[in-house]
Amino acid sequence: MVEREEAELRPGTIAIDGPAASGKTTVGELLARRLGYLFLDTGVMYRAVTWAALRDDVDVRDQDRVTELAHELEIRIADSTQDDGRQYTVLVDGVDVTWHIRSPAVDTDVSIVAAYPGVRRALVPMQRRTADEEPVVMVGRDIGTVVLPNADLKIFLDATVEERARRRWQEMRDRGKEEVDYPTVLDSMRRRDRIDKSRDVSPLRPAWDAVAIDTTGLTVDEVVDEAHRLVEERSCL
Ligand code: DC
Repeated sequence: MVEREEAELRPGTIAIDGPAASGKTTVGELLARRLGYLFLDTGVMYRAVTWAALRDDVDVRDQDRVTELAHELEIRIADSTQDDGRQYTVLVDGVDVTWHIRSPAVDTDVSIVAAYPGVRRALVPMQRRTADEEPVVMVGRDIGTVVLPNADLKIFLDATVEERARRRWQEMRDRGKEEVDYPTVLDSMRRRDRIDKSRDVSPLRPAWDAVAIDTTGLTVDEVVDEAHRLVEERSCL
């Protein structure tokens, strides 16, 4: 009974936003696991639409076609089905695209796709429905500002662009992509930051009531501990 009452006092919707490789996904997933909450990485959905456009030879600059595609696709994020380092399995129309959506080609085009209002209109309702169903840790760029403006706790993670590019480069090398060089990853990250922050719809920015955490120089555990501490702090209110 005590446990149940404590659980009810906990924030049920936790929004984590921040730029690419700021640690959102790793931290969000670990925090969700500690709390027993569902985890939703919304970036996966924009990546899935981008992957499908490349698959179908749709020009990513063709806003109407890409928007149509976003409405047609069946995107499912399921528990991990393989022991290959994945946190979850992403299915597009039943096809496992978990690693395909992390390719440099998708990295290059995803911020163009994510800037289309029609694509966001297709994906945001799915994200909101997830939060209606059960306690969730949801990560993205606009969760605290647009998707869940009434989230119980909003966290904005950041780190220097050099540190974020280094993390992304290391991740790629860990997956056997030895050919990727750091300056290319840094350039691509700067370009995506610029597009994500300056687009007209739902630009990347902290919600006014978000708590900012600079993760430069912090370990993953330190960031998760800090996020967990914020959850506990809110639980007492
Ligand atoms: O977090 P990520 O790198 O997987 O995100 C991929 C792209 O999707 C990135 O360019 C920003 C965009 N995105 C977005 O616009 N809104 C979200 N809620 C999540 C991601």
